[in-house]
Amino acid sequence: METVRSPDELRYWVESWRLESRSVGFVPTMGALHEGHLTLVRRAAELADRVVVSIFVNPTQFGAGEDFERYPRNVELDSELLQEKGCHLLFLPETETIYPEGHSTYVDMGAPAERLEGEFRPGHFRGVATVVTQLLNLVRPDIAVFGEKDAQQLAVIRRLVRDLHLPVEIASHPTVREPDGLAMSSRNAYLSDEERAAAATIYRALSSCRQHIEQGERSAQAIRHVLREVLLQEPLIDLEYAEVVDAATFEPILKIRSSIVMLVAVHIGKTRLIDNISMEIDG
Ligand code: PAF
Repeated sequence: METVRSPDELRYWVESWRLESRSVGFVPTMGALHEGHLTLVRRAAELADRVVVSIFVNPTQFGAGEDFERYPRNVELDSELLQEKGCHLLFLPETETIYPEGHSTYVDMGAPAERLEGEFRPGHFRGVATVVTQLLNLVRPDIAVFGEKDAQQLAVIRRLVRDLHLPVEIASHPTVREPDGLAMSSRNAYLSDEERAAAATIYRALSSCRQHIEQGERSAQAIRHVLREVLLQEPLIDLEYAEVVDAATFEPILKIRSSIVMLVAVHIGKTRLIDNISMEIDG
């Protein structure tokens, strides 16, 4: 595995693969890699001949008072894991490369970035859309792979790529979970033992809603009620939102039909966690 920091070195490798007619898959990350990320790397390796992974803790997607400073960083360990998983190129851009002095171009998104994460983390998707556009332009992959745990981010990126005619295919991979259902996240490392046990409630609540829908419940309001009720039984959970939305628009719905996503954001102690389950409804 090669490790590069500059756009020139990155271009050198990607162009040399292009000359050999090799396709390029890309997994953008913020590091602190876990099995969820490594699954994306494996998926990229199935979909393309060469795999590029970037690690960049993007300051513009963190709001004031969020965890940018304490976000876990361990490039050495990440690098070892990526090497084992068959990554060909690790791109570690400096902040000055992505945001040089005088940088003033941002990507502003409308729907589906306005609600939920967009509402509770103002500016978050502007930062995500800006860095992802830059990374896609720098790497120029054939395909980029994102995790379904950040369901709204995935919808935002699909829309971004469509609206800006970016020449890349977007692929996704299902959320990887711990044995008790907690979605893997770099932020799980912040949780104390007690908080970690409480965090399992998130998936329990989502699964309980899935079961209600499978048994025929079609009222989105009833599902929201179940979601909140299960979450609020856990005293350590401070609920931010529990929503049922249309998978394409991320608008809240009244009736459960076609493609839906149930989404949750909570605070447990100082840690903010999100999760979701999406479903396809027949008929
Ligand atoms: O999902 C993430 O880790 C980040 O939001 C991403 C896509 C790497 C952009 O910084």
